Amino acid sequence: MSPKEKKYTLLYKEIKSLVSSETNFIANLANVCAAIKTKFNFFWVGFYLVERNELILGPFQGTIACTRIKKGKGVCGTAWEKNKSIIVDDVDKFEGHIACSSLSKSEIVIPLRNKEKVIGVLDVDHDKYRFFDSTDKKYLKKIINKLEKTLD
Ligand code: SME
Repeated sequence: MSPKEKKYTLLYKEIKSLVSSETNFIANLANVCAAIKTKFNFFWVGFYLVERNELILGPFQGTIACTRIKKGKGVCGTAWEKNKSIIVDDVDKFEGHIACSSLSKSEIVIPLRNKEKVIGVLDVDHDKYRFFDSTDKKYLKKIINKLEKTLD
């Protein structure tokens, strides 16, 4: 197991115990952000939640961010529209990328669903290019699945 996988395995255990002891969804989103940010010291970790035709900024850890993203816009709005996870190695090469901070260089976005419907996205930003890979995708999806199950 790679050092990254080891960290994610520990993180997942932490998150499993966090979300099983609290029923409030927003409180859980907030603590999940804090847990991910603390473990990896990512530049920015946060949720955007669907409200009508927009994503609205939800619980996050990091610098001030844009508050509203339209469906299909930026990496977050594209992940929502396509209902799929997106890894961006270089944000400057993603057409329509929304730069909340010029320090963010790579990004991963994972949709958050309730009964197949996208209700938000998890957005994680790194200040280095090409940080995120299939390991991040695998474990962040696992964390999101855990959160989704609390909605059942
Ligand atoms: N870069 C995102 C916007 C959110 S910030 O990174 C926090 C996007 O293109 O959707």
